[in-house]
Amino acid sequence: MSPLRVGCVGTGFIAGRHLAALHGFPDVTVVAVADPVRERAEQAAARCGGRAYADGLEMLAAEDLDAVWLCVPPFAHGPLEDAAVDRGLPVFVEKPLALDLPPAVRLAERVRQSGLLTAVGYHWRALTVVQQARRIVQETPAQLVTGAWLDRTPAVPWWSQRTGSGGQLVEQTTHLVDLARLLVGEVESVQALETTSPRSGWPGADVPTASAVLLRFRSGAVGTISSSCVLERRSRVGLQLTLEGRLLDVSERALSDHELRLVDADGEQVVQTDEDPIACEDRAFLDALAGRGEALVPYAEALRTHAVVCAADASARSAGTRVDVDAFLASAAGA
Ligand SMILES: NC(=O)c1ccc[n+]([C@@H]2O[C@H](COP(=O)([O-])OP(=O)(O)OC[C@H]3O[C@@H](n4cnc5c(N)ncnc54)[C@H](O)[C@@H]3O)[C@@H](O)[C@H]2O)c1
Repeated sequence: MSPLRVGCVGTGFIAGRHLAALHGFPDVTVVAVADPVRERAEQAAARCGGRAYADGLEMLAAEDLDAVWLCVPPFAHGPLEDAAVDRGLPVFVEKPLALDLPPAVRLAERVRQSGLLTAVGYHWRALTVVQQARRIVQETPAQLVTGAWLDRTPAVPWWSQRTGSGGQLVEQTTHLVDLARLLVGEVESVQALETTSPRSGWPGADVPTASAVLLRFRSGAVGTISSSCVLERRSRVGLQLTLEGRLLDVSERALSDHELRLVDADGEQVVQTDEDPIACEDRAFLDALAGRGEALVPYAEALRTHAVVCAADASARSAGTRVDVDAFLASAAGA
């Protein structure tokens, strides 16, 4: 079989991880990459092959691809997905789906109508430790979720403005919400509070510097997820689940450094893994394209996670009003 011809739009940090994985698979050829910072696209092409473009839409119009990876910042979603769907091109999209909910709802509907294969970069689902945690909660459901994303502010230029990233909840904590949905089930409602402290080292920054989200799950479980971006380095990124007689703690120190901690009557057991979840999710998507298995997180599934974080963001902006997630999603669909 001839190799799958793939392209990638956006050639920054996470694209580097995807392109390294894609370049390493024997059944894939990277044929094109694009980034408005042309030198970045050229460097990526030099590392992984393919033609370099300064414009992703131009790349999509010119190249004959089997699939495209969209690794652009949150503010840049929309036109690229539209172009991919117009061309009948399966698409891997990095999270978050968009800055807010309505554009993602619109794109989800286009994707649904097209029937195209899609995947979204909620990479925690690719981890074996997460699959292990999932097996445990399928037997004994979680009652309490306690999550935290306590970190530094990412240095990329778009992150510290709401119009660039959507804020920490939408851009980072979304991973923990997705993990909570996988392990505990659908979120029924959210309430959130946030604070935005002025920061001398971050001119123009307007993203909340800390937030706290209260969640109620359909299962009856309850939870809190706290976020802050004012530290000098990552301190804690993870989710704890409390179940009858047992505590599970899944955490991430870096993209290829995860840990599952289990505490029960027999003591504590720690499972560490350096597996690369980016390569795993890419492999799953490629296999799905080849008719073997399914993508880990299709666009429609990611939309539900995005709806929860956008609902929490809306609640935080309205001083903690309770937001029903289904109603919020329905109103975004009608918007
Ligand atoms: N799954 C994960 O764990 C993970 C980790 C890091 C980043 N991400 C996500 O990936 C996305 C990119 O993050 P990053 O850290 O790679 O950022 P980055 O700033 O390093 O890279 C983004 C690249 O996109 C380019 N770009 C901007 N607008 C564009 C446009 N309209 N068309 C094409 N390219 C454009 C930029 O020039 C830049 O090179 C974000 O949405 C982020 O949330 C996911």
